[in-house]
Amino acid sequence: MTDWLGLRDRAALVAGAGGIGAAAALALARQGARVMVADVDEERLAKLTEQAAELGVNLDTRVADLTDAEDARKAVAGAAAALGGLDVFLHAVGMNDRRPALETPDEVWQRIIDVNLKSAVWTAQAAGALMVDAGYGRIVFVSSVSGLLAHAHHAPYAATKGGVNQLCRVMAREWAPHGVTVNAIAPGYTETDLTRAYLDRPGMRESMVGLVPAGRLGTADDLVGPLLFLSSARSAFVTGHVMYVDGGRTLV
Ligand SMILES: NC(=O)c1ccc[n+]([C@@H]2O[C@H](COP(=O)([O-])OP(=O)(O)OC[C@H]3O[C@@H](n4cnc5c(N)ncnc54)[C@H](O)[C@@H]3O)[C@@H](O)[C@H]2O)c1
Repeated sequence: MTDWLGLRDRAALVAGAGGIGAAAALALARQGARVMVADVDEERLAKLTEQAAELGVNLDTRVADLTDAEDARKAVAGAAAALGGLDVFLHAVGMNDRRPALETPDEVWQRIIDVNLKSAVWTAQAAGALMVDAGYGRIVFVSSVSGLLAHAHHAPYAATKGGVNQLCRVMAREWAPHGVTVNAIAPGYTETDLTRAYLDRPGMRESMVGLVPAGRLGTADDLVGPLLFLSSARSAFVTGHVMYVDGGRTLV
């Protein structure tokens, strides 16, 4: 296999072993990158290890609560120690809890800010420090179309995704002189555990599909190409972007 993306032997940490993180980690491993995946959920990590073995690729895993600053920094340092550096960092950790803004209790606000935004801050800051020192790095956040559109019942989720977009842009500006790019992809509704129960509500899937010019919802595989490109040596002059991967959802 040619190495057009320049990912072979790159050291990559993926935060989040859910639908999107797992697809990204397996794709990176298939490109020949050395991959570590961190998640709070041990079972998901075990399942991902099995999937990797079935595909004949290797990846390491690490259990970490990335909302905790200390644990997050240890996970990044541990990955860099195990992989012999850190070239790529993908943040694919997140949660949602859909309620009207007036009915969202403090603890739900706090939890979504912790999981979606603070985990991104702690991990990307630690990854960025190593990459700035090394003079090379690729950081990619998984944001959402909700960082742009005003979806009802998404107040904390949308606020954290808007926060991730601006975190991405400021880190991109600060670290550009050091060979480190920082970008985000912003998916529309993608079929993973995060959206399954919601999309299974009567009529919901049809109504969501109706909002997408491409006429279907996304899959984790739809995100892999953009994620690999932004993780690769080929995207050296692309930084501070939020790339919508949404079948045109944000066009209408
Ligand atoms: N699925 C979609 O429709 C969609 C759309 C737009 C954006 N996104 C974003 O993509 C990212 C990944 O979502 P997904 O669809 O793969 O969801 P998912 O629920 O399948 O995966 C999320 C992962 O985050 C992990 N996680 C949660 N709290 C954690 C913590 N404290 N420490 C470490 N890991 C933790 C979970 O264990 C899980 O493996 C999220 O940021 C999500 O907001 C998803």
